[in-house]
Amino acid sequence: METSGLGWCKAGLTAAGTVTLLALGVARASAAAAPHGDDVGPSTRTNVTNAMKGEALAHVAYREYAKQADRENLPEVAGLYRRTAHTELREHLDEQAKLVGLVGDNAANLRDSMSGESYEATKMYKNFAKQARKDGDRQAARLFSEIAKDEAAHHAKFAEAAKAVADPSSGAVIPTDVKAKRVTVRAGEPEVSSDRTLENLRTAMKGEAFAYARYTLYGDKARETGQPRLAKLFHRTAAVERTEHFAEEANLAGAVRGTAANLCATIKGETHEGTRMYPDYARQASSAGDTAAASVLTDTAKDELKHAKAFAGQLSELGGRCPAAS
Ligand SMILES: [Fe+2]
Ligand SMILES: [Fe+2]
Ligand SMILES: [Fe+2]
Ligand SMILES: [Fe+2]
Repeated sequence: METSGLGWCKAGLTAAGTVTLLALGVARASAAAAPHGDDVGPSTRTNVTNAMKGEALAHVAYREYAKQADRENLPEVAGLYRRTAHTELREHLDEQAKLVGLVGDNAANLRDSMSGESYEATKMYKNFAKQARKDGDRQAARLFSEIAKDEAAHHAKFAEAAKAVADPSSGAVIPTDVKAKRVTVRAGEPEVSSDRTLENLRTAMKGEAFAYARYTLYGDKARETGQPRLAKLFHRTAAVERTEHFAEEANLAGAVRGTAANLCATIKGETHEGTRMYPDYARQASSAGDTAAASVLTDTAKDELKHAKAFAGQLSELGGRCPAAS
């Protein structure tokens, strides 16, 4: 039995999960210009892209687990989740982004964003809504349809921004009128009836978490290159992906449980990354001659094992134990 509604180890980070995500076209970030990442081979690029999605999901999920720990009056657990969330995004994902050149110039970042939004608006969420309707999951169908509309609006704003960036004398203005709702993620069971809807919710949450991470980095790049309006557009859109889209999906998917169950899911995911995923990726990078990547991936494996240990320490302080099969 899975201990977490998010199931991010099982559904998100296995080799099978990689194939599913790539087949669904969620691996859209590789479309970005790669000024610093052209020197890694194709297998390293695929593995690092998958790793970045896992890091983004861990970052966003840990922020929600931290809020749940706050609600249970467990400030040490909440603090550990927040610190670890920071490491996953600002160290691990950041280093991996540099390896594959995820962040390009502002124009390239806008192109990548537009292609992701267009895929979500015209294909992914439309198909998910259709499937949920067919399976009688009306609430999920409604949510997927609403999000599809939001993604179309994001696409339009990025397109306007791209025009302004390409030709500053055109009179086009970078729009910044994006406002995120802050949706509370409650601890609970899934609120959908079909397994397909649940799986689609999890796929969507991975896409939202990765969109959040990319727009955060793209916004930072815009700020560093003297484009404060573009930075605002990216950062505000990032907030919609995390505090609205991801959060609404997490509620339907039952992604957050009580803290003991959240800790079990976390320990499982961190252990998988530290003992299997990153060592495998490091070995593959090394045999492909991607030595810098191999060294980053080896160091990340060590960090994940430290994370697993720290979370296990918190669980034992609570007197909790994970189910043997988890
Ligand atoms: Fe990590
Ligand atoms: Fe979006
Ligand atoms: Fe979204
Ligand atoms: Fe970690």
